[in-house]
Amino acid sequence: MNRNDFLRFSASAAFGAAFITTPWHFSGRRTGTGATDAAWPPPDAAEEQFWDFVREQFPLSHERAYLNTGGLGASPYAVIDAVKGKMDELEKTCETGHSEALWDEIKRDAGALLGCDAAEIAFTRNTTEGINIVANGLPLARGDEIILTTQEHVGNAFTWLALAKREGVVLRLFEPSTLSDAENIDRLTRCITKKTRLISIPHAVTTTGMLMPVAQIARIAAEKKIWFFVDGAQTAGMIPFNLHEIGCDAYATSGHKWLLGPKETGLLYVRREMLDTIRATFVGAYSGGDFDFLKGTIGFNPAAQRYEYGTVSTPLRAGLGAAIAFIRKIGIERVWKRDRMLADSLVAGLSGLPEIILLSPARPEARSAMITIMHRTISHEKLQAHLDTCNLRTRSVTEGGLNALRISFHVYNTPGEVARVLEGLRTAPKG
Ligand SMILES: Cc1ncc(COP(=O)(O)O)c(C=O)c1O
Repeated sequence: MNRNDFLRFSASAAFGAAFITTPWHFSGRRTGTGATDAAWPPPDAAEEQFWDFVREQFPLSHERAYLNTGGLGASPYAVIDAVKGKMDELEKTCETGHSEALWDEIKRDAGALLGCDAAEIAFTRNTTEGINIVANGLPLARGDEIILTTQEHVGNAFTWLALAKREGVVLRLFEPSTLSDAENIDRLTRCITKKTRLISIPHAVTTTGMLMPVAQIARIAAEKKIWFFVDGAQTAGMIPFNLHEIGCDAYATSGHKWLLGPKETGLLYVRREMLDTIRATFVGAYSGGDFDFLKGTIGFNPAAQRYEYGTVSTPLRAGLGAAIAFIRKIGIERVWKRDRMLADSLVAGLSGLPEIILLSPARPEARSAMITIMHRTISHEKLQAHLDTCNLRTRSVTEGGLNALRISFHVYNTPGEVARVLEGLRTAPKG
């Protein structure tokens, strides 16, 4: 036990002695490592007690309220342990640890969370890589049109812009509206022409956190025989959904945001029927099914694994598996309810702050756990710098020409932190 572990152990042992009637609480704080299954609170534990326990599963500092899960999620001890443990194990014998059994197990878990089959999931390094696989794999030609919003994250903007420059595809943009789903459907359908081949939009818009009506868009796209890709960077691990029910052709997400996985992990879903349409551009060991180099025959892996290639980090994959298991352990419905409760209480508190404008949708059904605001008189830089002095980590929003700040709430945030944000906004300089 190193010194930090010892201090953590001693402090929590004292805590445990004081709360002898809640043994699950004690074991959660004791070691600074992932809690065992038996240590988790029972389903009927009081709500704040449950979330206290969850909070203690993270090494994340308490002084600085971390409100940027939309940028990067903090990992719990369970994930850190899985990465370190796998690395310790593998470095003893210098093996890759590649194991299709382990990959399948993680993909089955991911499929259960996202509502798809394990064979429809590929491991990637991040959402951006997933977008690139789709962009470079679809048979698009000069003059083909792609619909996006004006408020894409650079990952979903740069990739398609590069394709436009290189291949001559045409990008058509519509401004997402926070007013209503109908307005967004109307704006999107007005962009559709005979040349539209693909719609590529976010599930939750990075700027305002607004949830887009993806199932409705999928139906329109299917009717018009247009491919539909969903940039899911901001939804896996935050909200419950089912990809088969949504009906999109592909969906990319990051392991290192709301899923709380290791950095540089991601997942790409490709609908089974689309696997032969979205060609694998980068290929190598693990992309192949039946192939024979000497005879010159090639057959791709029948599953989405065809998009994977070469030596990979088993510790990172094990960590991603632990992250998905952690989210599922809490329960995605419960995560969503908690995250939204925190976000909604911030929105409610804004009504007492006339200098602050809410840019996220006012209609609750379109809101996610990311709330975006703007100050009437000061820039996002100045507001962020002020909040920083209050130990509040937020994210600037400049996409689509906005001058705003985004505040993300996830399982480690607390009602006390919402109050700190409101106080920080109240004390912001006026000009
Ligand atoms: C909507 C959206 N798409 C793509 C990305 C890029 O994610 P990554 O850096 O993990 O590839 C982000 C990151 O914030 C995002 O918000």
